[in-house]
Amino acid sequence: MMIEAKKLVKIYNGNIKAVDGIDLSIEKGEIYGFLGPNGAGKTTTVKMLTTLLKPTSGYASINGLDVVKEQEKVRKIIGLVPQDLSVDDDLKGIENLELQASFYGIGKEEARKKAKELLELVDLYHARDRYVSTYSGGMRKRLDLVSGLIHEPEVLFLDEPTLGLDVQTRTKMWEYIENLRKNLGITIFITTHYLEEADRLCDRIGIIDKGRIMVEGRPEELKNSVGFDLIYILSERPEEIKKYLDNAINIEILEDGTIRFSVHNSEEYIPLLLQKIYQAGIKIKRLSIQKPSLDTVFLKYTGREMREDESREDIIRTMRAIRRAR
Ligand SMILES: Nc1ncnc2c1ncn2[C@@H]1O[C@H](COP(=O)(O)OP(=O)(O)OP(=O)(O)O)[C@@H](O)[C@H]1O
Ligand SMILES: [Mg+2]
Repeated sequence: MMIEAKKLVKIYNGNIKAVDGIDLSIEKGEIYGFLGPNGAGKTTTVKMLTTLLKPTSGYASINGLDVVKEQEKVRKIIGLVPQDLSVDDDLKGIENLELQASFYGIGKEEARKKAKELLELVDLYHARDRYVSTYSGGMRKRLDLVSGLIHEPEVLFLDEPTLGLDVQTRTKMWEYIENLRKNLGITIFITTHYLEEADRLCDRIGIIDKGRIMVEGRPEELKNSVGFDLIYILSERPEEIKKYLDNAINIEILEDGTIRFSVHNSEEYIPLLLQKIYQAGIKIKRLSIQKPSLDTVFLKYTGREMREDESREDIIRTMRAIRRAR
């Protein structure tokens, strides 16, 4: 196990229980998403795992090294990009990385070479000699991202790497993070409260609320655990389509003639259904599938909605399925 925690607890000032008995088992090469609303205990957990904060009780290790008893060794194999910006405005891009390198006792030559590689990885090499004060928010975040990597850690902790960035820049950041895994093969522990981001990027997700992990699993698993996909089909003969809906539930014909129903596994269900529909000579004007989102997952396991600014619907148009069935 690359990251492990057992009954990890942090109580601040004797009474604020920020982390309330967390268990983690994260394997080498995984991207693990720690998802939760403000104040859930994400940063506190990261600080304990990265040796910055001593747990009140419980145990945690990185690649088998105890985060309390073997602090120094742990620090050598982890990289941390904290929630607050860590790069220095008054230095040039490349100088920031060289400074980081000097903290780890990496020689000048070596540092320059590593810095170049890392800057290229996040498309910042062209801006290496500019002062960070002239960087855009997205550029800073990218520099932040690689500043935790100069010493070639085995595990990278990213605390809210995309907070406050616009949607487009965030999408780019996900790509960069995915590239880090692909190119460097490192394990990544990422905290976020953007559901969509966690959904796309992470192999596994733990949903944390009030210091506890409420549920954990692969994004697909979590969404499937919610239940059903919601399907909408608009055609001129909804009543006839209704006859073909084996094993569907919540079947309803809406005002505009759209038939809506729920099924468990729309990927298998829809192509078969479409075949029947086309054989009957019924034309479909529109088809959409609404998958359960992590939003629904969060609601189910915490009983609350996550404070969230993303669109709630994840509608996938399956015109491809329609074409296949034709
Ligand atoms: N140094 C501290 N002293 C006392 N309480 C703290 C301290 N740091 C955090 N807390 C409290 O612990 C709880 C968890 O905070 P933490 O920063 O871990 O949450 P988070 O999930 O990272 O939140 P956010 O999404 O806002 O970053 C909160 O109630 C917070 O107020
Ligand atoms: Mg935090």
